Amino acid sequence: MPLTRLAIKQFRNIEACDIDLSAGFNFIIGPNGSGKTSLLEAVYMLGHGRSFKSALTGRVIQNECSELFIHGRLKSGQPLDSDSFELPVGINKKRDGTTEVKIGGQSGQKLAQLAQVLPLQLIHPEGFELLTDGPKHRRAFIDWGVFHTESGFYDAWGRLKRLTKQRNALLKSAKCYKELSYWDQELVQLAENIDKWRKAYIDELKCVAEAICSSFLPEFEIKLKYYRGWEKDTSYADILEKNFERDQMLGYTFSGPNKADLRMKVNNTPVEDVLSRGQLKLMVCALRVAQGQHLTQVTGKQCIYLIDDFASELDSQRRERLATCLKQTGAQVFVSSITASQIDDMYDENGRMFHVEHGKIECIDKRADSPNRE
Ligand SMILES: Nc1ncnc2c1ncn2[C@@H]1O[C@H](COP(=O)(O)OP(=O)(O)OP(=O)(O)O)[C@@H](O)[C@H]1O
Ligand SMILES: [Mg+2]
Repeated sequence: MPLTRLAIKQFRNIEACDIDLSAGFNFIIGPNGSGKTSLLEAVYMLGHGRSFKSALTGRVIQNECSELFIHGRLKSGQPLDSDSFELPVGINKKRDGTTEVKIGGQSGQKLAQLAQVLPLQLIHPEGFELLTDGPKHRRAFIDWGVFHTESGFYDAWGRLKRLTKQRNALLKSAKCYKELSYWDQELVQLAENIDKWRKAYIDELKCVAEAICSSFLPEFEIKLKYYRGWEKDTSYADILEKNFERDQMLGYTFSGPNKADLRMKVNNTPVEDVLSRGQLKLMVCALRVAQGQHLTQVTGKQCIYLIDDFASELDSQRRERLATCLKQTGAQVFVSSITASQIDDMYDENGRMFHVEHGKIECIDKRADSPNRE
């Protein structure tokens, strides 16, 4: 579902903006510190309920203001579909930490519902942490896909987290494993379900992802492998019992879905040891595009791509490869760049260009005639 309209208020240096968007490419051009990343951050917050830059909402709300607002209109259905309609979505965050989510005019909605209707993929300069940093980024990557394709995942994951916390507390006082075994039954069930869903997701994604990786980086053979977080061929129940004393010594449950990972190798060596920074960035792009394509194949939903600082670390040939691939997906894309020349080859009749300066966002597309206004 593309966003047809976006209104932002009191978000970083953006005091107020209300723009009509293209269902294809939206280019955000402006000098350093003008508000390009902030605009993408606002779209991201609309879909995730949080920023990708700051953990504290107070940092994102405009200085001297007490709250921020982000509103969007999502278009459902195909462009020529007579049943298509617009779904208004909105989020309001206050300095006291409260969040209000509105979907279709209804207040009190959950962030998870917002995430369901607004699947997003972010590609930004720090994005190769997905490949170079710890497994938590890769678990988030896997779980994005499982969340969007497996309806039971969200509740199961929340329940598993609560049970693991309880178990860790019990570990401190338990005298023998028997005292935990009753509580472990549900934990085992949840862990095995989550593992099954994650494995099934990666099994499906692998083909799409490896194919896109090889078209982006034809000189390498990249392979993805899912690791579930505990030993192969051993049930989670046996692991919990076998590791009871170790877990007790550590004070937490060491093995489990909270240790899952997606291991990626190029010619049998971890990708981070072989690929250059630009190549790592390209691989992250390939993985994110693959997730979007797989989502569309399985659910018919399109995700929105947010590409911050498009030109950084990609040469013109690689930029073109990524742009062509994104165009083929037919998805809505937001691309930020310092100069218009860096995105010249991507601009076509369906694109819309915005200029950002001191937090003011202005459409500089001559064809813009505000078709989405009521
Ligand atoms: N809470 C806030 N209130 C007001 N302004 C803020 C707040 N937080 C950050 N800013 C300012 O907002 C501006 C926009 O930053 P942003 O990261 O969006 O710029 P940018 O256009 O992406 O720049 P670059 O090209 O360097 O990446 C910065 O000047 C920053 O200092
Ligand atoms: Mg920026």
